[in-house]
Amino acid sequence: MPDAADPALAEVVLGRPRNPAPDASCRFDQVDGPVTFVIFGVTGDLAGRMLMPALAALYAGGNMPERFAIVGASRTDLTDETFRERMRAALAEYDPPALAVWDALAPRLSYQRVHYDDPASFTALSAALDALAQAQELGGNRIFYLAVPPTAYEAIAVNLAMAGLADETKGHARLVIEKPFGRDLATAKVLEQALHTRFAEHQIFRIDHYLAKETVQNILMLRFANAIFEPVWNRRYVDYVSILAAESIGVEHRASYYDHFGVLRDMFQNHMMQLLSLCTIEPPSLFEAELVRDEKSKVFRALRPFNAAALAENLVLGQYASGLVGGQRAPAYLDEEGVPGDSSTPTFAAMKVYVDNWRWQGVPFYMISGKRLPEKRTEIAVQFKPVPYSMFREIFGDHIKANRLTLRIQPDEQVSLTFQAKAPGPMCLRSVTMNFNYYQGYEGPALSAYAKVLLDCMLGDQTLFWRQDGVELCWKFLAPLLSEPDPNRLFLYKAGSWGPQEAGKFLAAHGLTP
Ligand code: BG6
Repeated sequence: MPDAADPALAEVVLGRPRNPAPDASCRFDQVDGPVTFVIFGVTGDLAGRMLMPALAALYAGGNMPERFAIVGASRTDLTDETFRERMRAALAEYDPPALAVWDALAPRLSYQRVHYDDPASFTALSAALDALAQAQELGGNRIFYLAVPPTAYEAIAVNLAMAGLADETKGHARLVIEKPFGRDLATAKVLEQALHTRFAEHQIFRIDHYLAKETVQNILMLRFANAIFEPVWNRRYVDYVSILAAESIGVEHRASYYDHFGVLRDMFQNHMMQLLSLCTIEPPSLFEAELVRDEKSKVFRALRPFNAAALAENLVLGQYASGLVGGQRAPAYLDEEGVPGDSSTPTFAAMKVYVDNWRWQGVPFYMISGKRLPEKRTEIAVQFKPVPYSMFREIFGDHIKANRLTLRIQPDEQVSLTFQAKAPGPMCLRSVTMNFNYYQGYEGPALSAYAKVLLDCMLGDQTLFWRQDGVELCWKFLAPLLSEPDPNRLFLYKAGSWGPQEAGKFLAAHGLTP
């Protein structure tokens, strides 16, 4: 019998894994110090639909510190009681199981009416926070979540600082904001100026909820925790990469925002660029916020600028016309409530970009995103090159289908690898797929994207948040595309189709047809 105490031998002879069981290598984060969350815009959709369920989930999962408080702040006149009632109703609507912790959670909620441009409101807020901290021994750690329209960011940041709430001498003071971070490079810089004169970069947490999706986080794990992918993850072996973020929904009730932004600002400047960077960065020496974000900025800097004279070859913009999505009639974008009848806002874009560096020279990256496509699907496909030479050419001909690795981000999270195998029986090849379902064999806790960002914010970990230089680099890259689209270059597509005919070659990279 081999000596089972020798781990190397046990691995080879007895088939016992040398690594610890997966659970032993998991990191379950728990915040140790007390914290106060202040949610501005707490009566809005985001707070009720996403933030309260996320906080309740963190509490239920034991991720919250022993002492914490949630202070709702908005312009509406509410009492603590009516505020709690609203939040309870939100949980009942959006996450009923979370009501299991409601009785314990409710006493930690209180409300403060705040007028965002009134300094006196913030002085009152500061006094209320101090009183709360004293009564509940909460210390000085505070997180200010701005669930308000971006137009209110500056006023809130200024008034928080004026009331001494950006000060970190008694604990951390963190400001959480959501995209859009400006509407272009110039406005992003104005916002940056406004925030940075009051808060330092380490205090600003710019959310991109895509980064907190489990399967998006998994991209770096897949690339850099496996030895088999990285050696072929470059221009020698990769033919092209396609990144798709398809949505079946339309503009919904957000026309006033969306019509001003369109798909390039709404999806590309942020989520799509992050997906691209995760597929292309070099391995940082450690999985740490600044190191990861340094690598991303290097990629953003390496993006080949668009050639304005040849834009048509690299970009197709579309807008949905009416059609059938999932058997239901969907109106044209122009007929959606709140959309001006002559709007030329694109709801679909397909583009080809290049990352000009040693690893990726010459490899096209096709990025496609649109609303009112046939289904919700976010997916990255890495298409490998065909074998260099076929020894089977006399049997199967010259063409052997190349390998493809697909990372399905949502809705059904999985990784699949397509490769060639001999078919049973006659001498022929067939394409087969190995599938890994992300949640298969896992029964432990999982965090929603918002729970993950709130947790990281409490922990002070900025890995999954945008850094200002990245924001600006991406605006700069997209700048040539952001001028009003020439109406002759905005192609209509039927709701429920995969986009305009003109996007055919981009869609083909992803195995789709318009
Ligand atoms: C948001 C965009 O950032 O992302 C929306 O503003 C889009 O227009 C949404 O619908 C998509 O997010 P998800 O998580 O549903 O893919």
